[in-house]
Amino acid sequence: MIDFLREAQGLFEYTRDLRRDFHQHPELGFQEVRTAGIVARELNQLGLEVSTGVGKTGVVATLEGGNPGPVILARFDMDALPIQEETGAEYASQTPGVMHACGHDGHTAAGLAVARILEAHKAELNGTVKLVFQPAEEGLGGAEAMLADGVLENPRPDRSLSMHMWNEKPVGWIGVTPGPAMSASDRFTVKIIGRGGHGAAPHLGVDPVVAGAQVISALQNIVSRNVPPLESAVVTVTSMTGGEAFNVIPETVELRGTIRSFKPEVRDLVLERFQEIVVGVSEAMGCQVEVALRKITPATINDLEMAERVRGVASRILPQAELDTDECTMGSEDMAYLMDDIPGCYFFVGSANHDQGLDAAHHHPKFDFDESALPRAAALMAASVVEFLDKN
Ligand code: NI
Repeated sequence: MIDFLREAQGLFEYTRDLRRDFHQHPELGFQEVRTAGIVARELNQLGLEVSTGVGKTGVVATLEGGNPGPVILARFDMDALPIQEETGAEYASQTPGVMHACGHDGHTAAGLAVARILEAHKAELNGTVKLVFQPAEEGLGGAEAMLADGVLENPRPDRSLSMHMWNEKPVGWIGVTPGPAMSASDRFTVKIIGRGGHGAAPHLGVDPVVAGAQVISALQNIVSRNVPPLESAVVTVTSMTGGEAFNVIPETVELRGTIRSFKPEVRDLVLERFQEIVVGVSEAMGCQVEVALRKITPATINDLEMAERVRGVASRILPQAELDTDECTMGSEDMAYLMDDIPGCYFFVGSANHDQGLDAAHHHPKFDFDESALPRAAALMAASVVEFLDKN
């Protein structure tokens, strides 16, 4: 019986040092050249079979157990965000305007600790572990790029696992939700085209600013009037641009924003109503309209049986853990693309520490987490991999 938590704690300094190094040298999506180089170096040192350049800057390592068995994929994301860091930490970002503000530095470091733990027990393992270090998770298409490069082939995984440091909850908390855990994400750009003119003579033009305001108001009806009350969805207009002068009606106005949902049928309904309302209201206001809707990720839906078993693993190896089965967020995750194809489980590892002030939200310039979450994350991931290797 492997003592996963003890082994992960034994690797604490290794994991923390890597995490701080990644934190100091953050790289945006598809630019993770330095990070991927360190990942490949560490995995090569373990004697694993390593492929680089998978999905541009992704790294995949295959670990063969001593006995035959299933193929289990464990995925860790590596990218940072275009944010100026304000933590003041001694290991703060050295790259202006780029920051690990989501904890992916921790995921990458924990992933390398998982590789070490599993490699040390290679002879006892039944089957194959595919360790996937993914670029560009932050809405740039990293998972899709890895899929296009065949990350789910040769060998094809039977099951997939991934995780996120979770600063909404303290260290000690673990979230494993059966079914939907993170929402689908879609984004839109709407160009409303009127006819510009003098601000004092609105009757001679067609005002796209007023049309845009009507469209924004009408869009609020989708969630309140069309989505069934017991379902969830979000339609948020995050940007409205158009016009520059105080006395000129502009020619066009552009709206941008995001749409979130869980169930495929709710997603279809929201996207259909979005299109109808934007076109219908714009035209009623005398404007023409161009709608660009881009589907970003499906919802992250955990396999029920896998979630149950990962929860069992967590209660076994982290006996003090506070286990939560209800955590569900309108944030989204491109791991959903892999889990659409391969049954999977995506879990959350509480990482906040209120006493130490390590509790800023994800994507905030002051985001930082309690590093004692790192061995817990590595132990739970390694133990979950072994759980599914032993009994697929
Ligand atoms: Ni993230």
